Amino acid sequence: MTQEQARELVKSRLSHKRYKHTLNVKDMAVALAQRYGADEEKAALAALLHDAAKEMTRQEMLQIFSDNAIMAKNAAQRPFPVWHGVAAAILCVTRWGVTDPQILSAIECHTTGRAGMTLLDKILYMADATSAERSYPGVEALRREQMQNLDLALLHSLEQSIGFVQEKGGELDPETLAACRDMRRRVAGLAGGSPT
Ligand SMILES: [Fe+2]
Ligand SMILES: [Fe+2]
Repeated sequence: MTQEQARELVKSRLSHKRYKHTLNVKDMAVALAQRYGADEEKAALAALLHDAAKEMTRQEMLQIFSDNAIMAKNAAQRPFPVWHGVAAAILCVTRWGVTDPQILSAIECHTTGRAGMTLLDKILYMADATSAERSYPGVEALRREQMQNLDLALLHSLEQSIGFVQEKGGELDPETLAACRDMRRRVAGLAGGSPT
């Protein structure tokens, strides 16, 4: 799938507001890919498709999960806000011919992160958290930090996200906690590691 095809696809599936968000995430993902030497084309495609399932109903997504149980894993048991990433990754493979495992992984975990995130996973997570239209307190600091130290920015973004869900009394996804623990270990490891 080309970027143009992905753009057209999501334009037809999303509200104007979410389509604008998607284009902003794509711009940020490409900027981060340039900064960290990731594949810009994959970053752009993953970003364009990341919210492609966001406006589907709960019932539609449940159907996708039951039709593709192996790929869906335990998605239906996880908090609802997580579902659309898993559903989009399944649609990529089953309907849209996008099979690159790096792109699929980034789309699947873009809401929660996970332990052992790849560079592309991190780029999409951060691009989604810091896209141009976002205006929550602290987003400016994250935008600066992610250009200096992606892992540290990711850790801070995960911590904020956990704090936000806890404050609202929402349900925390275990993958977010696993991602946060993993990034804490990595960041501490780098800080305390012997110079090479
Ligand atoms: Fe999303
Ligand atoms: Fe998004």
